[in-house]
Amino acid sequence: MRKKIVAGNWKMNKDYNDGLALFSEVINMVKDEVVGDLKVVVCAPFIHLNSLVGLGKGYDKVSVGAQNAHQEEAGAYTGEISTSMLKSINVEYVILGHSERRQYFGENNALLAKKTDAALENGLKPIFCIGETFSERESGEYFNVVKSQLAEATFHLSADGFSKLVIAYEPVWAIGTGVTASSAQAQEIHAFIRKEIAAKYGQEVADNTSILYGGSCNPKNAEELFSQADIDGGLIGGASLKSRDFVDIAKAFN
Ligand code: G3P
Repeated sequence: MRKKIVAGNWKMNKDYNDGLALFSEVINMVKDEVVGDLKVVVCAPFIHLNSLVGLGKGYDKVSVGAQNAHQEEAGAYTGEISTSMLKSINVEYVILGHSERRQYFGENNALLAKKTDAALENGLKPIFCIGETFSERESGEYFNVVKSQLAEATFHLSADGFSKLVIAYEPVWAIGTGVTASSAQAQEIHAFIRKEIAAKYGQEVADNTSILYGGSCNPKNAEELFSQADIDGGLIGGASLKSRDFVDIAKAFN
């Protein structure tokens, strides 16, 4: 059975002390309030990660993730962080292919294929993001866009490799805009993604892949989104910066 996951992506928010305080609040709330087999993941800026892993020790419902990593193991790449460095501090997840990385840092599917390989080689679990822009949705291109993002960056993997991925569908037009995809829109494309995975790797791998929805998810709309058959959780931006909202979204599964 696939995992239900609610992951927070803090993006470039929270200084060190505020980040530790937020994470502690989340841990305490998850411990006291969230039941069931849900996994909560917090993807924080690099400088927080080591401390968050320390704070999270012993709470197996909460995991820590990075928001990016470099594709090489080590070397002259000033300012970068490798997947083996993340592994060395026991970070468990890494977001790859977020639309902000694609848009502002020129990351393309070929590069993301290398980053995915590096993450898997070091035992990290990628949360791999795909999703179309507003104009691609308007023109009806969105199925093709999502299909090629998935195929070009991840379909070189063996079935065993692919089954370590979490997929996050984030329509760019819904990120940080307050405009959420309707549950029917989200379900339609999640089902399509699962069908593509089944065509490549077989139904069992597809059925075991967690596919998260991201884009203006909040405590009010989470329950309706998460009730859809192919939506296995969320990747939460703005609402993950408030412990109450974030944990209420996680509780939408109960
Ligand atoms: O990765 C999460 C994300 O891009 C969604 O952001 O603020 O719309 O929840 P937000």
